[in-house]
Amino acid sequence: MRLLIFFTWCLALSRAQEEYIRSAKDPQIPPIYPIGTTKEPFVKVDGRLFNIAGKTGYFAGTNAWWLGHLTNNTDVDTAMQQISNTGYKIVRVWGFGDVNTPIPDNDNNNDTLLPDPRRVWFQLINSTTQSSSYINYGPSGLQRLDYVVHVAERLGLKLSPALCQQLGTDWGGFDAYDPNWFLDPDLPARLRRVPHRSWSAGTEPARPSSPGNLCNEPRCPLCNATVITDWAANISAYIKTTLDPDHMVTLGDEGWFAPGSNYTDVDGTMSYAYQANDDGVDFTRNLQISTLDYGVFHLYPNLWGYTYEWGSLWIRQHDDAGLKANKPVILEEYGSPFSSNHTPVLQPWMDTVLKETRLAADQIWQFGPADLSVDVALFGDEFSVYYNDTEFDVLGRRHARDMLDKKVDV
Ligand SMILES: *[C@@H]1O[C@H](CO)[C@@H](O)[C@H](O)[C@H]1NC(C)=O
Ligand SMILES: *[C@@H]1O[C@H](CO)[C@@H](O)[C@H](O)[C@H]1NC(C)=O
Ligand SMILES: *[C@@H]1O[C@H](CO)[C@@H](O)[C@H](O)[C@H]1NC(C)=O
Ligand SMILES: *[C@@H]1O[C@H](CO)[C@@H](O)[C@H](O)[C@H]1NC(C)=O
Ligand SMILES: *[C@@H]1O[C@H](CO)[C@@H](O)[C@H](O)[C@H]1NC(C)=O
Ligand SMILES: *[C@@H]1O[C@H](CO)[C@@H](O)[C@H](O)[C@H]1NC(C)=O
Ligand SMILES: *[C@@H]1O[C@H](CO)[C@@H](O)[C@H](O)[C@H]1NC(C)=O
Repeated sequence: MRLLIFFTWCLALSRAQEEYIRSAKDPQIPPIYPIGTTKEPFVKVDGRLFNIAGKTGYFAGTNAWWLGHLTNNTDVDTAMQQISNTGYKIVRVWGFGDVNTPIPDNDNNNDTLLPDPRRVWFQLINSTTQSSSYINYGPSGLQRLDYVVHVAERLGLKLSPALCQQLGTDWGGFDAYDPNWFLDPDLPARLRRVPHRSWSAGTEPARPSSPGNLCNEPRCPLCNATVITDWAANISAYIKTTLDPDHMVTLGDEGWFAPGSNYTDVDGTMSYAYQANDDGVDFTRNLQISTLDYGVFHLYPNLWGYTYEWGSLWIRQHDDAGLKANKPVILEEYGSPFSSNHTPVLQPWMDTVLKETRLAADQIWQFGPADLSVDVALFGDEFSVYYNDTEFDVLGRRHARDMLDKKVDV
């Protein structure tokens, strides 16, 4: 989901921030919240499904991109407890928060500070001198993500962080990098600059797919799809061999098909979603990358010019691609923009996932928490399904239970 929220940066680091700032090349500042303490094994691939905490089966999950961008621990506790109570097992969060200039922090108890989730940033990418980029380990920095990992371990939730974001302006995104990021020969060095605890710790199983998504919705418009395929193969191989062999990795893309893969629109044409070259992403080819553990795809017909009914075809086609590649596939984001009235669109898709596919999991966009101290409108959207809304009974609780109860054919 592409969040179009713009805001301005202030220019200087505050004194309180300075003590938490380190170059990405320096040793990390250790987490203040215990992480890596769970006894649960790493999440594993088992055929086309996942094995979570020893159970191979189907799972439901959700997206709560903002969890690591909340500054109040009680709010994180509340939202994650609600997610856990629902029966969700997998939670996708933004593991990025890239800026080109620091956001001012809480010096002088300044009440005019930006509200959550805009205050938190993890990494500064210096747009003039990349080598002077640095990481924010402070209370409005990685401590926030650490706390989310800490709570996930306590609740047995599995996190799936996205490490970067294609679309420019959202919490960094590649506007904070250079426009040709996917062609950068210095990829490993660039990756090291992305803050990620598990790359150095490697012992922390709360993340099912950590480093999770290589990127949220990567695109290379009008590129040959081999550009992103090569990038994904290179980076995932580097992660698996050098940084973190234990966690699963996926690309994080929207799932565009290329003409060569033989999937077509309902009328047999190669419309937009089947023209890999429009966005430079080829789902079936990327599924062949041996260092990507599973595939993901997203579903937003209203943003892509398709009917909602087409969504079920899109779901079946990605399941078929997963079958051919013998890999798990997750419907990783799906939603419709009808506040408090999502059921007519989402229920048929959920039925398709449940009854017509072997998709390993699905993750609705997005979880709407209740009873937080911050205004949920600051990070919710018309796609949010709120915990305290009546439609959550069906779209949240019942669907999570149905997925967990779904029989595994052996
Ligand atoms: C970026 O690097 C330049 C050159 O080293 C430096 O003058 C500038 O202050 C840096 N910007 C930030 C936001 O750190
Ligand atoms: C308080 O924060 C605002 C917004 O970041 C900033 O413009 C202002 O200068 C700060 N005031 C003080 C007294 O620090
Ligand atoms: C994309 O690149 C590959 C490998 O270089 C090449 O074989 C293929 O023809 C290219 N496709 C297009 C549409 O240019
Ligand atoms: C990734 O690409 C870089 C630059 O082209 C290359 O040096 C490196 O060997 C590649 N790594 C892997 C694992 O393929
Ligand atoms: C696509 O269909 C053509 C014609 O039926 C066939 O030759 C080709 O092998 C198919 N490609 C894939 C990837 O299934
Ligand atoms: C944090 O959230 C709790 C519970 O919503 C609230 O009671 C508390 O005042 C909040 N703390 C701050 C600093 O806003
Ligand atoms: C859910 O909670 C929000 C405040 O967090 C409130 O505005 C809304 O009316 C509540 N919805 C229902 C159905 O209770």
